[in-house]
Amino acid sequence: MEKHILLLGLLLAEGICAEDFITDFEYGQMLYRDPRGASCAACHGETGSGKLIGEYPDKTGRIVTLYGPDIRHATLKQIRDSVTKGAGVMPRYFLTEQEIKTIHAYLQKLNSHEKTGSITRLFERKK
Ligand code: HEC
Repeated sequence: MEKHILLLGLLLAEGICAEDFITDFEYGQMLYRDPRGASCAACHGETGSGKLIGEYPDKTGRIVTLYGPDIRHATLKQIRDSVTKGAGVMPRYFLTEQEIKTIHAYLQKLNSHEKTGSITRLFERKK
């Protein structure tokens, strides 16, 4: 009997730790900022709203402006495609399907405040 209680205790503790250690949102943020390669944020901005990457002269001397597009509402497929194949100056990454899904969910949640009107809710811990 005592053994069972101990085992139950261990299982519970493990469950709680797995949930509390880091939320999916925080994990997504971590991957977005540091996806084992160039940070998505460096080119798409902290929230995915897009960013000026740089300007350079083309062959004819005309100034070309390079932007990382707005990906706040990119679909899972768009993210998967660009991350696995690369897109223009965007490098390709070696992320697992789960990591890609986590980044997608992160961007969705981060930018859902446009509808809910509050960003602080996002940082609430999952119960
Ligand atoms: C070096 C800059 C750079 C980095 C780093 C980068 N991207 Fe991009 N990304 C771009 C550019 C530029 C495009 C547009 C490419 C084109 O259409 O030619 C793009 C396109 C995309 C698109 C497609 C958008 C659309 O409208 O179809 C998605 C989604 C995307 N990136 C997600 C990511 C994610 C997620 C990461 C991190 C894992 C990342 N990018 C890292 C520059 C970058």
